[in-house]
Amino acid sequence: MNITQKCSHSLSQQGLDLIFEQVLSGGQIFKDRNLLRHDYVPTSLPHREEQIRRLGSVLAPALSKERVSNIFAYGKTGTGKTIVARFVLDRLQKKARDYGRAVDTSYVNCRLSGTNYRVIADLCRALGQEVPFTGLAVGELLDRLRDALKSRGSAFLVVLDEIDALVKRSEDDSVLYELTRINESLEGGWIGVIGISNDLHFKDFLDPRVLSSLGEEELVFKPYSSDELYDILSDRAEAAFQPGALEDGALRLCAAMAAGEHGDARRALDLLRVAGEIGERGREKGILESHVRLAQQKVEHDRVTEVLSSLPLHSRILLIAVLHSENARKESLVTGDVYEVYRELCAAAAVESLTQRRVSGLLNELDLMGIVNARVVSFGRYGRTKKIRLGVEPRAVTSTFGSDGLVRGLLEYAPKSLPKQHAR
Ligand SMILES: Nc1ncnc2c1ncn2[C@@H]1O[C@H](COP(=O)(O)OP(=O)(O)O)[C@@H](O)[C@H]1O
Ligand SMILES: [Mg+2]
Repeated sequence: MNITQKCSHSLSQQGLDLIFEQVLSGGQIFKDRNLLRHDYVPTSLPHREEQIRRLGSVLAPALSKERVSNIFAYGKTGTGKTIVARFVLDRLQKKARDYGRAVDTSYVNCRLSGTNYRVIADLCRALGQEVPFTGLAVGELLDRLRDALKSRGSAFLVVLDEIDALVKRSEDDSVLYELTRINESLEGGWIGVIGISNDLHFKDFLDPRVLSSLGEEELVFKPYSSDELYDILSDRAEAAFQPGALEDGALRLCAAMAAGEHGDARRALDLLRVAGEIGERGREKGILESHVRLAQQKVEHDRVTEVLSSLPLHSRILLIAVLHSENARKESLVTGDVYEVYRELCAAAAVESLTQRRVSGLLNELDLMGIVNARVVSFGRYGRTKKIRLGVEPRAVTSTFGSDGLVRGLLEYAPKSLPKQHAR
């Protein structure tokens, strides 16, 4: 080893030591960054007092075994629906324990659970009823759920979060119908459903019978204003950052940017955390507005990449179909155009294509995630269709899917059903 190698070796070791020690001592910026994580439940939720009180009052009768109304909560992403539901349920559960009351609770995220089967299976398991991961009919699962409720004789409060994903994926709300009707055939135990949707128009998807039963009570979550986000962030930042590490201007900017983004508290927290990490990596003493601006770019890029990488095969093919169609045509796309290209791509990839109805469901989902923008337009007596546009940078699609062996080839493929593309 020569001298320079030795030098840089010991330097890098020193540098590394410094990095580790900074983290061990909490660093100059963060005191506890975990407090900025999405799943952290703070002890107070500013500007949601009204929703907490309403939800608490609707669910409280469960403590004396009385039936509660089902409740339907909706609002855009990041408006505090999940955190409020968890907050209220946690406290109710604790009260029930303290007073020895039989209340069971379960929280299911329908988008993550994915299918009707898995959602109902999760509920069965929450009541201690073992069920296989696949293989039964959903009707059979519902019977087992009913049996479990009967034998426990308890109040069962169920949060079905992102419930819209369940219905949109299968374009079928019969499971919700069955769930909300279970009580009719029960004595003793009962179930109360708290349905949560990020989609304000979800109600239009539901059968009126489901809607009237699920929406016995409604709870609306409005977007946070910039000032409200500022309060929320200040509360959480106080414990998360070292004293003096966060400039007030930087905090205000996070709040203002997230307020522009439909009042999204999740976005505000992400901006703050990432700005902190950027400052930390740059060995800065504090977080400035410039760090927040850099954070904004990173957060947006990460969001899109994360959503794209989690898409299942057919949604990927569909998105590539939208990309090709948009590249090749000047006029706006309608569902039928995209479907044709999608089918061609499926054939090219030797994958069996889904029906237009299913594809339309997938488009709804992509729309929900902000990956495409689909707008329903009416053609007078010719009926309705959707106008579709890509909702993200084409480059994000090509770079994320470029490393996916299954669909990579489709990015280069020139669909015959489209006019020839000119180099752009
Ligand atoms: N009033 C609030 N006070 C503190 N944190 C909040 C508040 N509202 C939302 N958050 C935080 O913002 C993030 C998004 O909230 P969440 O409840 O997941 O939104 P939604 O379910 O409506 O999409 C979560 O990390 C949550 O902890
Ligand atoms: Mg949520």
